[in-house]
Amino acid sequence: MSSNTKIILVGGSKGGPGKSTIAQQIAGYLLVKAKKTVHLLDIDAQKTTYQWCQDRTSFAADLKLDNFSFNYLTEGVMDYLSENANKYDYVVIDAGGFDSEVQREAMLVATHLLLPIRPKRRDIRSLAALDGIVEKAQIINENLLVRVVMNQCPSLPNQATRIIGAKEICETFGMIALDTNLYARNVYDDAEEAGRTIFELPTANAIKKQKKKLKH
Ligand SMILES: Nc1ncnc2c1ncn2[C@@H]1O[C@H](COP(=O)(O)OP(=O)(O)OP(=O)(O)O)[C@@H](O)[C@H]1O
Ligand SMILES: [Mg+2]
Repeated sequence: MSSNTKIILVGGSKGGPGKSTIAQQIAGYLLVKAKKTVHLLDIDAQKTTYQWCQDRTSFAADLKLDNFSFNYLTEGVMDYLSENANKYDYVVIDAGGFDSEVQREAMLVATHLLLPIRPKRRDIRSLAALDGIVEKAQIINENLLVRVVMNQCPSLPNQATRIIGAKEICETFGMIALDTNLYARNVYDDAEEAGRTIFELPTANAIKKQKKKLKH
């Protein structure tokens, strides 16, 4: 495996905090903004990201979108990455919302593990439960950089203490949260349609044109 390839695993053991969304948007940023070569790998049986990639592929020509190379697998992730990862600048992996063998395997080869949670008690608890598994992975994969990111944060200023409090609890069991928070925004859901990222939203003019077309 090329030492230059970064493998970003977006994981955790809680359903629904936004792993797939964040994996897709990170991959999108790297492809569209940073102009890197990116492979998007879905290791979750729900195939959320794999299907999003398929949608993107079918709309890519019409919408003039650059495209990712992508794949789906639920076993043999180490072998797969040792054969394929060095073809890309980045591999972004979307893991399922539960502790699985394939996610543990991915932790052994990833360079970065990003754990999205909502600033809520159940999400924080799920992280505490994962801590031992992450520590074990770091015994073998010493260079694995682990960070928590707060997602779907409430944007009202009077709710800020919830976010700060959640980060403080994470730190009590040694998990570092990123300074950057992601807020609850409809744009993530809107962008998902047609396999877009938030970096490729249609302009107001394009939306007008499309509406006109639909009327005729
Ligand atoms: N920052 C955000 N603001 C608003 N909606 C969001 C945000 N992040 C994620 N969502 C929405 O939350 C829902 C769940 O997100 P997503 O599917 O990415 O979660 P997940 O962690 O991958 O879930 P699963 O554990 O089932 O794989 C989706 O409808 C998504 O659009
Ligand atoms: Mg998902």
